[in-house]
Amino acid sequence: MTNISVFNFEVFGVAKWVDVVVGLLACLCIYQFLQHKSSPGPRAWPIFGSTFELFSNVGQLHDWILKYAQQYDTFRVSTFLSNYIFTVDPVIMEYVFKKNWKNYGKGKVISSQLTAFYGNGIFISDGEQWEWNRQILQRQLFSSIHTKYNLDLHIEAGIEVSSMLIQLASKGIREIEMQDVFRRMAFDSIFQNVCGVKLKSLSSSFLEIDFIKAFETAKVQTNRRTFDPFWKLKRFLLLGPEAILKENLTFMDEFLYKIIEKRRNEVKDQNDALQDVNGDLLSRILLLFKDDPKVDSDQNIRDVIVNIIEAGRRTTVEALSWSFFMICSHPHVETKILQELSKIMEGKGVCAPIQHGHNTKDNEFFINNVATYAHLLNHDTLSEMHYLHATVTESLRLYPSVPVER
Ligand code: HEM
Repeated sequence: MTNISVFNFEVFGVAKWVDVVVGLLACLCIYQFLQHKSSPGPRAWPIFGSTFELFSNVGQLHDWILKYAQQYDTFRVSTFLSNYIFTVDPVIMEYVFKKNWKNYGKGKVISSQLTAFYGNGIFISDGEQWEWNRQILQRQLFSSIHTKYNLDLHIEAGIEVSSMLIQLASKGIREIEMQDVFRRMAFDSIFQNVCGVKLKSLSSSFLEIDFIKAFETAKVQTNRRTFDPFWKLKRFLLLGPEAILKENLTFMDEFLYKIIEKRRNEVKDQNDALQDVNGDLLSRILLLFKDDPKVDSDQNIRDVIVNIIEAGRRTTVEALSWSFFMICSHPHVETKILQELSKIMEGKGVCAPIQHGHNTKDNEFFINNVATYAHLLNHDTLSEMHYLHATVTESLRLYPSVPVER
């Protein structure tokens, strides 16, 4: 009896196999063509989808996506290996993010690409792990001790920036990259907020801090994975971006693990009185959740820290940069904010309003003035500053800090 096998080339013939493969590919192309023909979005070629157009727009992804979002409420971007659906339709967004969010997890693809950096943190976890992250952060971020600690450190950061700018101005420096100043200020503040450590990247010498460099590089290299179909191969062979990612992650993690260990030892020596513990997020989580087995894991704590730093730093830089840009390009808005501030401060018995167009010779007076004002700011005074609030929210509406959500 003849044993027929599909692998028997002699029976089936190599030429026939080629026919079968070509036939299958043709069917796949026709299927993809029909599937994508009617879908709105960038042109999708068989097999490769919109990969080529995507690659040619890598440097301006946001503008590229926006171009299609202005034409279609919902559209598809297919690539070599995956399919992305983008929407700006508020009904769909409410359905996905609010009404039915449990059915729309971040998924395995995103988590496999981003886990190296975010670990099991809030940004990429789903289900039980996401709820754990959320519970840990929610209880602490909004606790009164942490809120006070956070406000104080932001006030100090504001004073530091003002002093630095006034010193540079008195040396005759008239131009400065403010986005870089905000980047340093936001990183220093969020890091102190989370870990209780001052990185001091904000100084007139503008030195780069190794940890910040490693963190930012690791983040950029991780993001590259989302549009590089060969990242797994590169990771296996430790090539190019994957080698850079590994090196920076190792540096970043070692730095964080040392801080975690230090805080664990400090908290061990504390009694249970929460008010005696530092206001930073890490100390408070270690103390408040000390019976939670997940908190015993340094890896889990590292993931919480990395996610919260990432959540706080970029958003703050974007919001500050655009708000200041808008204020500078609309001088009447600046005048109104200063008037609002003066009115509130006068109500507190401080009547030396900061003037627009200050004379840089009087540096000490100016810095003291800023410091006095800054220390009077608290949640009550800030909640009276409706015009300032409207300015910031309008800038955020026009230039959202998080322009794309997943
Ligand atoms: C102008 C400032 C900020 C803006 C515009 C902003 C905006 C947003 C947006 C749109 C999301 C949802 C992202 C998504 O699901 O893809 C988000 C998530 C989050 N943000 Fe912010 N954010 C800001 C500042 C901060 C700061 C300072 C912190 C922490 C100190 C923070 C912590 C978080 C956390 C933990 C999440 C994840 C929440 C979750 O998944 O449940 N954000 N933020």
